[in-house]
Amino acid sequence: MKIIILADEAAAVSCAARTLTDKVRAKPTAVLGLATGETMIALYRTILEISTTEPLSFSEISTFNLDEYVGLPFGHSASYRTYMQNYLFSHADFDPALTHFLAGDAKDLVLESSRYEQLIIDVGGIDLQLLGLGENGHIGFNEPSSSLASRTRIKTLTKTTLEANKINFKNIDKMPLCSLTMGVGTILDSRQCLLLATGSRKAPAVAQMVEGPVTATCPASALQLHPNTLVILDDQAARDLKMRDYYEYVHSGVSNVT
Ligand code: GLP
Repeated sequence: MKIIILADEAAAVSCAARTLTDKVRAKPTAVLGLATGETMIALYRTILEISTTEPLSFSEISTFNLDEYVGLPFGHSASYRTYMQNYLFSHADFDPALTHFLAGDAKDLVLESSRYEQLIIDVGGIDLQLLGLGENGHIGFNEPSSSLASRTRIKTLTKTTLEANKINFKNIDKMPLCSLTMGVGTILDSRQCLLLATGSRKAPAVAQMVEGPVTATCPASALQLHPNTLVILDDQAARDLKMRDYYEYVHSGVSNVT
């Protein structure tokens, strides 16, 4: 794991945005795995700023979103498909035919999950998987106890996640209790992972992910097994890291050293 700790949220977001736009420039046909959540809103905003001030095209980029709520109809205001339209896709030259989502309203969710897995294989795999981090250590919607070898599937959401995400639902009683999510194993198949976490709320999960044991209790800890993972943090999210001095020593001003 390469761990970059930056002074504040803006610096962390900017570093993550640069990593992603550098990938797009280096490989204009790259396959990106995309994430949602509050943290990613600032990231997508920064990517769009870069795309308006510098030459950058997404027209041949393929995308796969990590997860979706089960049961939300197409166009629902809280669906991740709507989120992606609002915060990224409708503001840049993405080709809608190349942006892929899990259909949370599919009749057969098992079939939908295997369709998604196959589609990722068919395009040659994910080059760069963007990840946020749940306060309980989830990645995608792989809640604690998820198999570290899991593939795309239906997953019941924890009370912690429902609580954290209820802000997006006008009527909490109608909030879905389940999701479709890429599995931990699906995520680990990506050629590179980029996890962005900011703010003190994430500090305990960050410490478990980086310095705790590899355990299904903290699904993000499986990233310790991935050979090319970049973790970008702000000062607050890095608060509980015991080896922080070492990470800062290794990466200060020499970001190409691992
Ligand atoms: C959500 C999403 C995750 C996201 C995480 C963090 O539940 N399913 O993909 O990374 O929670 O979200 P936030 O940035 O809002 O804290």
